[in-house]
Amino acid sequence: MPILTWPSKSLPEIEHADIILDTVLYPHGSGYPNSKPENHLFLGDNLQIMASLLPEYENRLDLIYADPPFFTNKRYPVRIGRGEDSRRPQEWQMAEGYGDYWKNPEAYLDFLYPRLALMYRLLAPTGTLYLHLDWHADAYARLLLDELFGRERLMNEIIWTYHGPSPIRHAFNRKHDVILVYTKSDDYTFNADAVREPYHPNTVKTFASSSKAGFGKIPNLERGKVPEDWWYFPVVARLHNERTGYPTQKPEALLERILLASSNPDDLVADFFCGSGTFPLAALRHGRRFLAGDVSWRAIHTTRERLIDLSRAPFTLYRETAVSIPSYAPACPIVFSDQKLSLKNPPALDYWEIDPAWDGIVFRSVNQTRRSNRSAEIPLEIKMPIAATNICVRAVTVSGSVFQSNI
Ligand SMILES: C[S@@+](CC[C@H](N)C(=O)[O-])C[C@H]1O[C@@H](n2cnc3c(N)ncnc32)[C@H](O)[C@@H]1O
Repeated sequence: MPILTWPSKSLPEIEHADIILDTVLYPHGSGYPNSKPENHLFLGDNLQIMASLLPEYENRLDLIYADPPFFTNKRYPVRIGRGEDSRRPQEWQMAEGYGDYWKNPEAYLDFLYPRLALMYRLLAPTGTLYLHLDWHADAYARLLLDELFGRERLMNEIIWTYHGPSPIRHAFNRKHDVILVYTKSDDYTFNADAVREPYHPNTVKTFASSSKAGFGKIPNLERGKVPEDWWYFPVVARLHNERTGYPTQKPEALLERILLASSNPDDLVADFFCGSGTFPLAALRHGRRFLAGDVSWRAIHTTRERLIDLSRAPFTLYRETAVSIPSYAPACPIVFSDQKLSLKNPPALDYWEIDPAWDGIVFRSVNQTRRSNRSAEIPLEIKMPIAATNICVRAVTVSGSVFQSNI
């Protein structure tokens, strides 16, 4: 079997990260204070995070979706503030998103290979990995996955196609991504019925007019068909209701198809490059438990806002101590009277949350308020839902800095 090699190729033993529990989030109070979160977010480099998860999760994850940097050698800023009107780019406020910059292909492979190897170890014997890339690095990744999983474990090479404007004049428009799907064994989950789609109207018409059309094979037209290995879904730039401003965000429908096909309710699924959180969002919506992480604070913040909006189960936020969260000082004054809490003259805020019984270590967030995507308004006064003993407020400014204050 052909093997991809390069001079620095190695799988060193990875040091475990120093991880602390930062926040337990009860979306709009749900589950507070007794329910035990089964969904976990991790802020930090996924190499160390995944290594730290091995003692508890080795051979336990039913599905991993991985959408790493693609080796494009570009920077991807995030759109913040109001900035949702795509017709007025001059009004967008931008901040640092994430970088996809590499000295050479070897440096990229040094990044990808040990992470894929850890994902392999974390997957359950019946688990499936979906690795999302494009023409920049898919050929390299295919060889790495052949090596880690075995060539025969390639379940599919999925082509996700989309369309949109492109400045390219010297070649055909590059409008597809490649998703490599590997299973850890030949005993794996594939829920064909969960992802069936209607037959093309022409097919339905043909069979309606002649039962001989399929040369003896008559499809079950009502049940629909299992999709082909090429999928069309519009990109998020065209999906106004989904856009978070986080770069390279994937459409929910795309990730829902992956989740529904390759996992069952209550399964444990993971995305260690979660960006804006599309995959954990799909997981929560469809009753799967998740582990999700990203090295970017902005990504984790965007993810938690989306999960709170869904308002389902509580989840935790762990962070690697080496990763710092930008802080804003001084905090603004907070006033508590008539069971109402209000912030006085804060900087432009994106989000704020309350722990009514702050223990000085783990923030238990029971009430969250966020800026509306459309109007850019954020309420600065909220009712305290429950008896408070030691109120602590944490807020995130539009530029992504955090401040904290207690009464
Ligand atoms: C292509 S984006 C993921 C987009 C995501 N699927 C979504 O729908 O929003 C890649 C993400 O990988 C993250 N990333 C890059 N290097 C990482 C690392 N070493 N550990 C964890 N996350 C990393 C980036 O911060 C970025 O958010």
